[in-house]
Amino acid sequence: MKKRVAVLISGRGSNMMALIEAARACDYPAEVALVISNRPEAAGLQHARDARVKALAIDHKAYATRAAFDAAVETQLAAEGIELVCHAGFMRIQTEAFATRWLGRQLNIHPSLLPSFKGLHPHKQALDAGVRVSGCTVHFVTAELDAGPIVAQAAVPVLADDTPQTLADRVLSAEHRLYPLALSLVASGRARLEGGRVLLNALVNSTDPLFSPTP
Ligand code: GAR
Repeated sequence: MKKRVAVLISGRGSNMMALIEAARACDYPAEVALVISNRPEAAGLQHARDARVKALAIDHKAYATRAAFDAAVETQLAAEGIELVCHAGFMRIQTEAFATRWLGRQLNIHPSLLPSFKGLHPHKQALDAGVRVSGCTVHFVTAELDAGPIVAQAAVPVLADDTPQTLADRVLSAEHRLYPLALSLVASGRARLEGGRVLLNALVNSTDPLFSPTP
Protein backbone atom coordinates (compact mmCIF):
# COMPACT_ATOMS: atom_id res chain seq x y z
CA MET A 1 0.00 0.00 0.00
CA LYS A 2 1.38 3.39 -1.00
CA LYS A 3 1.48 6.02 1.74
CA ARG A 4 -0.84 8.95 1.06
CA VAL A 5 1.20 12.15 0.85
CA ALA A 6 0.21 15.83 0.83
CA VAL A 7 2.64 18.40 -0.58
CA LEU A 8 2.51 21.93 0.86
CA ILE A 9 3.71 24.68 -1.48
CA SER A 10 3.82 28.46 -1.77
CA GLY A 11 5.18 28.97 -5.28
CA ARG A 12 6.18 27.35 -8.55
CA GLY A 13 6.23 23.79 -7.16
CA SER A 14 9.12 22.23 -9.08
CA ASN A 15 9.99 19.97 -6.12
CA MET A 16 6.30 19.06 -5.84
CA MET A 17 6.36 18.01 -9.51
CA ALA A 18 9.51 15.92 -8.91
CA LEU A 19 7.63 14.09 -6.14
CA ILE A 20 4.47 13.65 -8.25
CA GLU A 21 6.51 12.25 -11.14
CA ALA A 22 8.58 9.88 -8.97
CA ALA A 23 5.43 8.64 -7.22
CA ARG A 24 3.92 7.54 -10.53
CA ALA A 25 6.27 4.51 -10.61
CA CYS A 26 4.32 1.48 -9.42
CA ASP A 27 7.08 0.40 -7.04
CA TYR A 28 7.34 3.85 -5.38
CA PRO A 29 6.10 3.58 -1.77
CA ALA A 30 4.08 6.84 -1.75
CA GLU A 31 1.44 8.62 -3.82
CA VAL A 32 0.79 12.35 -3.91
CA ALA A 33 -2.91 12.58 -3.04
CA LEU A 34 -3.18 16.29 -2.26
CA VAL A 35 -1.41 19.60 -2.86
CA ILE A 36 -2.14 22.64 -0.69
CA SER A 37 -0.83 26.15 -1.30
CA ASN A 38 -1.12 28.98 1.23
CA ARG A 39 -0.92 31.37 -1.73
CA PRO A 40 -3.86 31.15 -4.17
CA GLU A 41 -1.72 32.55 -7.01
CA ALA A 42 1.01 29.88 -6.69
CA ALA A 43 1.85 28.50 -10.13
CA GLY A 44 2.32 25.04 -8.62
CA LEU A 45 -1.45 24.64 -8.07
CA GLN A 46 -2.08 24.54 -11.82
CA HIS A 47 0.91 22.24 -12.42
CA ALA A 48 -0.57 19.80 -9.87
CA ARG A 49 -4.01 19.94 -11.49
CA ASP A 50 -2.45 19.40 -14.92
CA ALA A 51 -0.89 16.25 -13.43
CA ARG A 52 -4.39 15.29 -12.16
CA VAL A 53 -3.58 15.74 -8.49
CA LYS A 54 -6.17 17.40 -6.22
CA ALA A 55 -4.88 20.91 -5.44
CA LEU A 56 -6.35 23.43 -3.00
CA ALA A 57 -5.54 26.99 -2.03
CA ILE A 58 -5.89 27.76 1.67
CA ASP A 59 -5.06 31.46 1.83
CA HIS A 60 -3.28 32.17 5.12
CA LYS A 61 -4.43 35.79 4.90
CA ALA A 62 -8.02 34.64 5.44
CA TYR A 63 -7.15 33.29 8.91
CA ALA A 64 -6.71 35.46 11.99
CA THR A 65 -4.14 33.22 13.65
CA ARG A 66 -1.50 30.66 12.72
CA ALA A 67 -3.48 28.07 14.70
CA ALA A 68 -6.64 28.73 12.66
CA PHE A 69 -4.72 28.34 9.39
CA ASP A 70 -3.06 25.13 10.62
CA ALA A 71 -6.49 23.78 11.65
CA ALA A 72 -7.85 24.43 8.14
CA VAL A 73 -4.87 22.57 6.64
CA GLU A 74 -5.33 19.70 9.09
CA THR A 75 -9.02 19.36 8.19
CA GLN A 76 -8.04 18.79 4.55
CA LEU A 77 -5.27 16.35 5.49
CA ALA A 78 -7.77 14.32 7.52
CA ALA A 79 -10.40 14.41 4.74
CA GLU A 80 -7.87 12.89 2.32
CA GLY A 81 -6.48 10.33 4.78
CA ILE A 82 -2.99 11.86 4.52
CA GLU A 83 -0.18 9.96 6.28
CA LEU A 84 2.88 12.01 5.32
CA VAL A 85 3.33 15.72 4.55
CA CYS A 86 6.10 17.17 2.37
CA HIS A 87 6.92 20.88 2.49
CA ALA A 88 8.18 21.93 -0.93
CA GLY A 89 8.96 25.65 -1.00
CA PHE A 90 6.25 26.12 1.67
CA MET A 91 7.07 29.48 3.22
CA ARG A 92 4.92 29.34 6.37
CA ILE A 93 5.97 28.63 9.93
CA GLN A 94 3.65 26.15 11.62
CA THR A 95 2.45 26.20 15.21
CA GLU A 96 4.42 24.09 17.64
CA ALA A 97 1.28 22.01 18.27
CA PHE A 98 0.96 21.11 14.58
CA ALA A 99 4.67 20.32 14.24
CA THR A 100 4.55 18.12 17.34
CA ARG A 101 1.44 16.23 16.22
CA TRP A 102 3.06 15.47 12.86
CA LEU A 103 6.58 14.82 14.15
CA GLY A 104 8.18 12.03 12.14
CA ARG A 105 5.53 12.38 9.43
CA GLN A 106 6.52 15.75 7.90
CA LEU A 107 9.52 16.44 5.66
CA ASN A 108 11.00 19.68 4.37
CA ILE A 109 13.62 20.42 1.72
CA HIS A 110 16.01 23.32 2.23
CA PRO A 111 18.58 24.45 -0.37
CA SER A 112 21.72 24.32 1.77
CA LEU A 113 23.76 21.76 3.64
CA LEU A 114 22.07 22.21 7.03
CA PRO A 115 22.85 23.23 9.69
CA SER A 116 24.58 25.89 7.57
CA PHE A 117 22.57 28.72 6.01
CA LYS A 118 19.10 28.31 7.51
CA GLY A 119 16.26 30.66 6.66
CA LEU A 120 16.05 33.09 3.77
CA HIS A 121 18.60 33.61 0.94
CA PRO A 122 20.68 30.48 1.62
CA HIS A 123 22.59 30.78 -1.67
CA LYS A 124 23.65 34.35 -0.93
CA GLN A 125 24.61 33.23 2.57
CA ALA A 126 26.72 30.40 1.06
CA LEU A 127 28.47 32.73 -1.40
CA ASP A 128 29.09 35.35 1.32
CA ALA A 129 30.63 32.63 3.52
CA GLY A 130 32.92 31.54 0.66
CA VAL A 131 32.11 27.83 0.86
CA ARG A 132 33.25 25.63 -2.04
CA VAL A 133 30.50 23.07 -1.54
CA SER A 134 26.84 23.76 -0.89
CA GLY A 135 23.82 21.55 -1.52
CA CYS A 136 20.43 20.62 -0.20
CA THR A 137 18.93 18.82 2.78
CA VAL A 138 15.73 16.90 3.43
CA HIS A 139 14.86 16.81 7.12
CA PHE A 140 11.96 16.02 9.41
CA VAL A 141 10.01 19.14 10.33
CA THR A 142 10.16 20.35 13.92
CA ALA A 143 8.86 23.58 15.44
CA GLU A 144 12.30 25.17 14.91
CA LEU A 145 12.87 26.48 11.36
CA ASP A 146 15.17 24.34 9.17
CA ALA A 147 16.44 22.46 12.21
CA GLY A 148 14.85 18.99 12.31
CA PRO A 149 16.66 15.64 12.10
CA ILE A 150 18.33 15.12 8.72
CA VAL A 151 17.18 12.34 6.38
CA ALA A 152 19.31 12.98 3.29
CA GLN A 153 21.70 15.52 1.76
CA ALA A 154 23.24 16.19 -1.64
CA ALA A 155 26.47 18.17 -2.03
CA VAL A 156 26.81 20.57 -4.96
CA PRO A 157 30.02 22.38 -5.90
CA VAL A 158 30.14 26.18 -5.76
CA LEU A 159 31.86 27.55 -8.87
CA ALA A 160 34.20 30.52 -8.99
CA ASP A 161 31.80 32.72 -10.96
CA ASP A 162 28.57 31.66 -9.26
CA THR A 163 25.82 34.14 -8.50
CA PRO A 164 23.01 33.28 -6.06
CA GLN A 165 20.89 32.42 -9.13
CA THR A 166 23.38 30.09 -10.87
CA LEU A 167 24.05 28.32 -7.57
CA ALA A 168 20.29 28.06 -6.90
CA ASP A 169 19.75 26.47 -10.33
CA ARG A 170 22.49 23.87 -9.74
CA VAL A 171 21.21 23.06 -6.26
CA LEU A 172 17.60 22.84 -7.53
CA SER A 173 18.56 20.05 -9.97
CA ALA A 174 19.97 18.13 -7.01
CA GLU A 175 16.81 18.85 -4.97
CA HIS A 176 14.70 17.23 -7.68
CA ARG A 177 16.69 14.00 -7.25
CA LEU A 178 17.14 14.14 -3.48
CA TYR A 179 13.53 14.75 -2.41
CA PRO A 180 12.03 11.69 -4.17
CA LEU A 181 14.85 9.55 -2.71
CA ALA A 182 14.27 10.87 0.82
CA LEU A 183 10.49 10.48 0.64
CA SER A 184 10.90 6.95 -0.60
CA LEU A 185 13.20 6.11 2.34
CA VAL A 186 10.70 7.51 4.85
CA ALA A 187 7.56 6.11 3.21
CA SER A 188 9.07 2.63 3.02
CA GLY A 189 10.31 2.75 6.63
CA ARG A 190 13.99 2.59 5.60
CA ALA A 191 14.53 5.95 7.33
CA ARG A 192 12.77 6.63 10.60
CA LEU A 193 12.93 9.06 13.45
CA GLU A 194 14.12 7.64 16.74
CA GLY A 195 15.38 9.56 19.75
CA GLY A 196 15.69 12.78 17.76
CA ARG A 197 17.88 11.21 15.04
CA VAL A 198 17.17 9.52 11.75
CA LEU A 199 18.05 5.85 11.56
CA LEU A 200 18.79 4.54 8.08
CA ASN A 201 18.28 0.93 7.19
CA ALA A 202 19.93 -1.27 4.57
CA LEU A 203 21.48 1.53 2.55
CA VAL A 204 24.52 1.49 0.34
CA ASN A 205 26.80 4.19 1.65
CA SER A 206 29.20 5.92 -0.70
CA THR A 207 32.62 6.74 0.67
CA ASP A 208 33.64 8.90 -2.32
CA PRO A 209 34.60 12.44 -1.31
CA LEU A 210 33.37 15.36 -3.44
CA PHE A 211 36.24 17.72 -4.29
CA SER A 212 35.55 21.33 -5.15
CA PRO A 213 37.59 22.50 -7.00
CA THR A 214 38.48 19.17 -8.58
CA PRO A 215 42.09 18.00 -7.96
C1 GAR B 1 13.39 25.24 -3.33
O1 GAR B 1 14.72 25.58 -3.66
C2 GAR B 1 13.29 24.85 -1.87
O2 GAR B 1 14.40 24.12 -1.42
C3 GAR B 1 13.21 26.19 -1.20
O3 GAR B 1 12.35 26.94 -2.03
C4 GAR B 1 12.48 26.48 -3.38
C5 GAR B 1 11.10 26.13 -3.88
O4 GAR B 1 11.13 25.85 -5.24
N1 GAR B 1 12.72 26.09 0.12
C6 GAR B 1 13.14 26.84 1.14
O5 GAR B 1 13.96 27.73 1.02
C7 GAR B 1 12.51 26.50 2.49
N2 GAR B 1 13.27 27.04 3.55
P1 GAR B 1 9.96 24.99 -5.91
O6 GAR B 1 8.65 25.73 -5.55
O7 GAR B 1 10.22 25.08 -7.36
O8 GAR B 1 10.01 23.61 -5.36
